[in-house]
Amino acid sequence: MSFDTLAPYYRAMEALAAGGLLQRCRASFLAEASHCQRALLLGEGPGRFLVELLRANPRVAVTCVERSPRMIQEARKNIARHGLNSERIRFELGDALAWRSPTGVFDLVATHFFLDCFRRDELEGLIANISAATTDGARWLLSDFHQPGQGWRKWRAQSALQLMYGFFRIMTGLSASQLTPPDLFLEAGGFRLEHRRLANFGLLHSDLWLRACNAPRQLVST
Ligand SMILES: C[S@@+](CC[C@H](N)C(=O)[O-])C[C@H]1O[C@@H](n2cnc3c(N)ncnc32)[C@H](O)[C@@H]1O
Repeated sequence: MSFDTLAPYYRAMEALAAGGLLQRCRASFLAEASHCQRALLLGEGPGRFLVELLRANPRVAVTCVERSPRMIQEARKNIARHGLNSERIRFELGDALAWRSPTGVFDLVATHFFLDCFRRDELEGLIANISAATTDGARWLLSDFHQPGQGWRKWRAQSALQLMYGFFRIMTGLSASQLTPPDLFLEAGGFRLEHRRLANFGLLHSDLWLRACNAPRQLVST
């Protein structure tokens, strides 16, 4: 899967399709990140959350795991454009599914519009491994698409999701063809949902998950 082709146009596409809506989702629980020390950002793309995180938290050290070299280039440009210090960021070019970290390191994880890129089996292993890399009391901020349970909102979301998955599968080779809610896997990783905000008639959600103290750590090998 590669987002390289889309990387230079990604921000413009987002602005055309959604205005400022997705950015409001990304920043929804930003205040929760203001005292974190070590952040892990997965599939951060052109770095729109990263910029806000660096502004909100002048001490945080950030690791970004991103598979697309051109997305990393865009993120670096974005950091420079905002005059922010890039010494606090380590970009790791690689596949988050295969990425491994020592256990208990990160007190913040952020995945915005990223978990919806994966099939159920991929998501399960990914979340188990990333959960094991977090500290007790860690926060996990995420925004993603969401499927409302019933009524016209459900049908509207189904049509929108079909279109989006069709588009991204052609353009990027995305492995997922449908949305898998990450909730059960986050709970299995020791996290509990603290807040969820829905937007755009339930098509989008922003979540704050907290890791319980002494939650068991389970690594999955792939
Ligand atoms: C839909 S974009 C979301 C970008 C950004 N987080 C946002 O909020 O708009 C998905 C991002 O995840 C990256 N990505 C996809 N699969 C990945 C993987 N297996 N490992 C690391 N990054 C991946 C893509 O390159 C892309 O930048």
